[in-house]
Amino acid sequence: MRRSANRACAVFNWRSFNDIVAIRSAYRNVSGAIGRRKVEVVQTQLPGGFIHPFSPAARQDPYPALAWLRANAPLFRDQHSGVYYATDHDSVSQILRDRSFSAAAGQLERDRDKPLPPLMLNTDPPEHHRLRAPGLLLLGPAAVADHLGAIADEATALLDGLAARGEAEVASELGEPFATLVLAAVLRIPPGDRAAFAALARQASVNLDPMAGPAATSVGRRASALITRYLDGNTDRVTAADVDAPLARLARDPRLNRTEMLGILSLIVIGGFEPLASLIGNALAWLLPRPDALAELRDADQITAERAVDELLRLESPIPFVARVVAEPVALPGGQLEPGARVLAMLAAANRDPAVFTRPDDPVLDRTPNPHLAFGGGGHFCLAGPLVRTAGAVFLRELARRFPAARLAPGERPEWSDSLIPRRVRRLRLVLA
Ligand code: HEM
Repeated sequence: MRRSANRACAVFNWRSFNDIVAIRSAYRNVSGAIGRRKVEVVQTQLPGGFIHPFSPAARQDPYPALAWLRANAPLFRDQHSGVYYATDHDSVSQILRDRSFSAAAGQLERDRDKPLPPLMLNTDPPEHHRLRAPGLLLLGPAAVADHLGAIADEATALLDGLAARGEAEVASELGEPFATLVLAAVLRIPPGDRAAFAALARQASVNLDPMAGPAATSVGRRASALITRYLDGNTDRVTAADVDAPLARLARDPRLNRTEMLGILSLIVIGGFEPLASLIGNALAWLLPRPDALAELRDADQITAERAVDELLRLESPIPFVARVVAEPVALPGGQLEPGARVLAMLAAANRDPAVFTRPDDPVLDRTPNPHLAFGGGGHFCLAGPLVRTAGAVFLRELARRFPAARLAPGERPEWSDSLIPRRVRRLRLVLA
């Protein structure tokens, strides 16, 4: 497998991804410029002219292609790269839960110039458990309850500030400020530091995206180092001020050394900031054109609002796929896989599988049960799932209550970012009324 030194700096880039987007003469090519890198994206021969779900042209609507794969080739082997895409709910659930699929080896598929330190995201049991369990001190149910008061107060203040304006842009004026206030509550970041923190978090988040070019990934790597340094000092400050703060409890947990503890904090910022911001924009892209859905959210209690967040994440998963490598022979509904096989578990496709979800392409805000996989599943299930669900419900419901006639600004439709991870609305203006 080719390793390219000049773009091997992204924390999370897949080297196999280079192959997925490589030119393939057997297929019709679609080209697009992403960042400063010109990429040529393969268009698979899907009937009806469906565009490859990874192609820039599919950002607006990747779902028809994912639906075709799910119905016709639920375990699709990309002939050129050898990577499998699993798209049906059964297979994706199994990949996330079955220990035959290694997340550690999956992370090694990403393109980088030096190995990552062990993090919960890139380890398998038993090491994974050791690194993950202490994280609950910061993101488990008791800690979420502790963070919630600050999150609710600051969400209200943010919406107060926008009320006078009468309009807003969802990504920059709602999503990112929301992500900042949530992470600031978790990490106890003082108000004066938040703008710089958010700017670094935004830059570092580029490391999530397999499509990020070398210039962006190098900026992202510098930003990650600065964030870690900041979090180191901030943790000492918080511990000195409040020895019972969830962050202080994590910092003195004997199961982790300082580097491992800071690894958890950095992972939270790099892996959490953009997906959290994306949740708001992606949700509003569904809610704003549907006054009935907005009204339903306005009248919802907290539990029902949390169900609505799950449903909106099901429809628009900010993390549309995760990578694994097969560690031992395993059978999926679509076929047998041998050790070394590289697999992308397509969460966004599984989340609209009609075998599991009735009306899979519609928002059913009180859908129960809702076995969506937007937070992953199994041992690596998003550590912040409860926080995201709770904080997202508080914020979106408050927005619906404060602005019951909120709607898209005239002529607006969602502009989707070039990034594959997160899948996010880059720009969308709304009228707050
Ligand atoms: C809408 C927002 C979010 C979504 C959709 C999301 C989704 C995910 C997914 C799919 C995974 C599994 C990755 C895999 O299996 O390889 C994951 C893991 C993780 N997420 Fe989230 N996430 C979100 C927000 C956050 C936030 C805000 C934080 C931190 C405050 C966070 C912290 C983590 C951590 C630490 C892991 C690793 C868990 C492990 O490997 O054991 N996430 N997330």
